[in-house]
Amino acid sequence: MKRSASLQLLLSSLFLGLNLATTSDGDGPFTYTGFAGANLSLDGMATVTPSGLLRLTDGNGQDKGHAFHPDPLRFRKAPGGAVQSFSVSFVFAILSIYPNLSSQGMAFLVCPTKNLSATGTRGLLGIFNRQSNGNASNHIFAVELDTIQNSEFQDINDNHIGIDVNSILSAESYYTGYYEDSQGDFRNITLNSHEAMKVWVDYDEETTKISVTIAPLKMSKPIRPLLSTTYNLSIVLTDEAYVGFSSTTGNIDSQHYVLGWSFGMNQPAPAIDVTKLPKLPGEGPKKHSSMLMETFLPIATGIFVLAIGVAILQFMRRRSRFAELREDWEIEFGPHRFSYKDLFRATQGFKDKYLLGVGGFGRVYRGVLPSSKLEVAVKRVSHDSRQGMKEFIAEVVSIGRLRHRNLVPLLGYCRRRGELLLVYEYMSNGSLDKYLYEQDGKPSLNWVHRFHIIKGIASGVLYLHEEWDQVVIHRDIKASNVLLDAEMNARLGDFGLAKLYDHGIDPQTTHVVGTMGYLAPELARTGRASPLTDVFAFGVFLLEVTCGRRPVEQTKQVDNGVSMLVDWVLEQWHKGLLARAVDPRLQDEFDTHQTSLVLKLGLLCSHPVPDARPSMRQVMQYLDGDMKLPELMPESLSFGIQALLPSEGFDSHIMSHASTLSDGAFTGISGGR
Ligand SMILES: *[C@@H]1O[C@H](CO)[C@@H](O)[C@H](O)[C@H]1NC(C)=O
Ligand SMILES: *[C@@H]1O[C@H](CO)[C@@H](O)[C@H](O)[C@H]1NC(C)=O
Ligand SMILES: *[C@@H]1O[C@H](CO)[C@@H](O)[C@H](O)[C@H]1NC(C)=O
Ligand SMILES: *[C@@H]1O[C@H](CO)[C@@H](O)[C@H](O)[C@H]1NC(C)=O
Ligand SMILES: *[C@@H]1O[C@H](CO)[C@@H](O)[C@H](O)[C@H]1NC(C)=O
Ligand SMILES: *[C@@H]1O[C@H](CO)[C@@H](O)[C@H](O)[C@H]1NC(C)=O
Ligand SMILES: *[C@@H]1O[C@H](CO)[C@@H](O)[C@H](O)[C@H]1NC(C)=O
Repeated sequence: MKRSASLQLLLSSLFLGLNLATTSDGDGPFTYTGFAGANLSLDGMATVTPSGLLRLTDGNGQDKGHAFHPDPLRFRKAPGGAVQSFSVSFVFAILSIYPNLSSQGMAFLVCPTKNLSATGTRGLLGIFNRQSNGNASNHIFAVELDTIQNSEFQDINDNHIGIDVNSILSAESYYTGYYEDSQGDFRNITLNSHEAMKVWVDYDEETTKISVTIAPLKMSKPIRPLLSTTYNLSIVLTDEAYVGFSSTTGNIDSQHYVLGWSFGMNQPAPAIDVTKLPKLPGEGPKKHSSMLMETFLPIATGIFVLAIGVAILQFMRRRSRFAELREDWEIEFGPHRFSYKDLFRATQGFKDKYLLGVGGFGRVYRGVLPSSKLEVAVKRVSHDSRQGMKEFIAEVVSIGRLRHRNLVPLLGYCRRRGELLLVYEYMSNGSLDKYLYEQDGKPSLNWVHRFHIIKGIASGVLYLHEEWDQVVIHRDIKASNVLLDAEMNARLGDFGLAKLYDHGIDPQTTHVVGTMGYLAPELARTGRASPLTDVFAFGVFLLEVTCGRRPVEQTKQVDNGVSMLVDWVLEQWHKGLLARAVDPRLQDEFDTHQTSLVLKLGLLCSHPVPDARPSMRQVMQYLDGDMKLPELMPESLSFGIQALLPSEGFDSHIMSHASTLSDGAFTGISGGR
C-alpha cells in the first residue's frame, strides 16, 4: 500500500516534470510551462519558487537576478553564416507594492555568456555596465520591459518596451500596449499591473526584421506587432549564445516573475498552455463553501449592519480629528497624497514611543502603513503659511519621482491645518553622524565602509544635479542628513525641505538656509543656492567623514571660540601631517592614498571661490580613480573660511538657524530607536 503510493508519487512527479519542461538540446525548440524541476542557470536573486514560478527578483532592495536556459543555442547554421530566424514567447508578471510605481524592469536577452556578474543595476537592467554599455563587443540582443523612466537613457515613459542592441539605449521603443485586430485601435497595457501577460519576440533571417508583441494572457497574438525594426542580428550575435532573462530592482520593491517560456529556432515558438502555468502569489483558487455561506451569511449581514451604524458614529466623531486640508489643485497629485488617518494609524497616533527625532522643522515618527505594511518615517513640519505651498507640493511630488539607490525615497505627503506631513521610506540603520560621533553607542565605521558611503552620496548628488530631468539642488548636505539602510548603504535624505523653509517662514526676506559649517561663502552672502553650493557642503561632508570631526567645533584656542574643520585640515596639510587629520578611531587601518585623495578633494570642493570647485561629475571621476586629482598645493588653498564670511548682521542670523538646524532637525528621518 505504502509502496504503491510512493511509486505513484514518483511516477506522477516524473510525469509532471516531463510535462513542465520539455527541452531538447542544441538549437531545438524548448517549452517551459512553469519551471518546477527545470535545469535553469540562475544567479543573483533569481530562484524558482516551490510552485514553479521563475522569480528573477524578490523585491528586497537593490539587486539583480539572471536566469538562462542551461545550454547555448546555435544561432547560425554554420560559423560565419547568417543568424537564423528565431521566435520566443514568454509569460511574465511584475508585482510591486505600489500600484503605479515600480523600479527598474526586466528583459529577455540573447547573450554570449551566462556570467553577467559585472553588470550594473540602476537603469542598466543587469545586462550592461557603464563601461560596456554601447560597446559592439557585447554581442547582446535584448527586449526590455521597462517600468522606470530614466532620462539618462532617453526612456519615453515609465511603462515602455524597447529593443536593445548592445546598449541600454533602445534601438526602438514604444509605450506598452497592443493593436486590436479588428479596428487597429491601440490599447495601453500597464507592465506593473500584477497581471500575467504574454510577449512574443520574432526575428526573420531574410528581412532581418525584429518584432515584439505583447497582449493580456487571455488574448491570442495580435496581428500587428507593437514594435518592429530591421536590424541585421548577424552582425550582433555570436555563433552560439545563451537565451534568458535579466531583471533588476531598486528602491521600490518589485518582484519580477516569468511563468512560462518557449523558444524555436527557424520555427515559431511552441505555444504555451496558459491553463497549466503556475499561479502568481496571492492568486490562489478561491474556495467556496456554500454550507458555510448559508450559515454565516445572515449572521454576517447582521454584524455588517451593526458595524455600519457604529462606523457612522465613529466617523462623525473622528471627522474633526482626522481633518485634512485639501484643495482643488491637489487632485492632480493623487497617489502621492496620504490620508492623515493612515499616517495616524501608522504611528499609532504619533505616540512618543515612535518618535525618532526632534528638530527645528518638527518631529519625525516611525510607522508602518496599514495597507502595505511598509515601514515609513513620517516627518511633521509645522507650517502655517500657504505661501508657495502649491509650488512646494508640486516639488515634493516631482521629488517623489526621483529614484536613486543613494536617495531616501520620498513616498508622499499629507496636509493639515498648520502642518505638513512628509512620508519617507524608513532607513533602519539611522543617520551617519551617530556613527561618526559615537552617539547612542553606535559602532565606529571602518574606512572601507566610509569610502563606500562617500561614493554613494557623491553618486546621489550627481544624480540630483545632472542625471534627472531638472537640476535639483539639495541645499542641506551633511552627515546627519545621510541615512543608512539595512545594508548600510548611504542615502541622502531631506532634499527640498530647506526650500520650504524659504517659502514658509518669511517670504519677504531670503533666509539663508542650510547648516553652519556647510554654507558656501557666496551662499551666505547672496542667499542663492546652486549646484556649487552643494559641492561646497559635500566637501565639508568628505572632511567630516574622514576626520570624524564636526565641521564647526567650539574651542578655546581661537579668539571667537569656533574652529572650522576646513581650516584645521588645511593647517595639518601645511604642516605636512595630512594623514594625522584622519579619524584616530580608524586606528591606521586605512588606505592612505584614498584618505589623502578624499581629504584633498574635500578641500577642493570647499574652495571659497565657486569656480575653483569641481562639478559632481568630476568628483565622481576623482573618487573612481578615472581622473587624477589636479596637483594641489596647500598654499593655493589657504583661505581661512571664517575670514570670508560676512560678519555684520549675518553671523547671528546663521547661528540662530544653525542652532535649530544642526541639532537633529534632519537627523530624524530614521534614526535609532
Ligand atoms: C543542467 O545544465 C547543466 C549546464 O548545461 C548541465 O551541465 C547539467 O548536466 C544539467 N543537469 C541536468 C540534470 O540536466
Ligand atoms: C564572472 O565574471 C567575473 C568578472 O566579470 C569574474 O570575476 C568571475 O570569476 C566570473 N565567474 C565565473 C563563474 O566565471
Ligand atoms: C569595447 O570592449 C572591448 C572588449 O572589452 C574593448 O577592448 C574596447 O576597448 C571597448 N571599446 C570601447 C569603445 O570602449
Ligand atoms: C496610453 O498611454 C500613453 C502613454 O502613457 C498615453 O499618452 C495615452 O493617452 C494612453 N491612452 C489611453 C487610451 O489611455
Ligand atoms: C546580414 O549580415 C550578414 C553578415 O554580414 C549577411 O551575410 C547577410 O546577407 C545580411 N542580411 C541581410 C538581409 O542583409
Ligand atoms: C495609477 O495610474 C493611473 C493612470 O495614471 C490612474 O488612473 C490610477 O488611478 C492610478 N492608481 C493608483 C492606485 O494610484
Ligand atoms: C543595520 O541594520 C541591519 C538590519 O536592520 C542590522 O542587522 C545591522 O546590525 C545594522 N548594522 C549596524 C552597524 O547597526
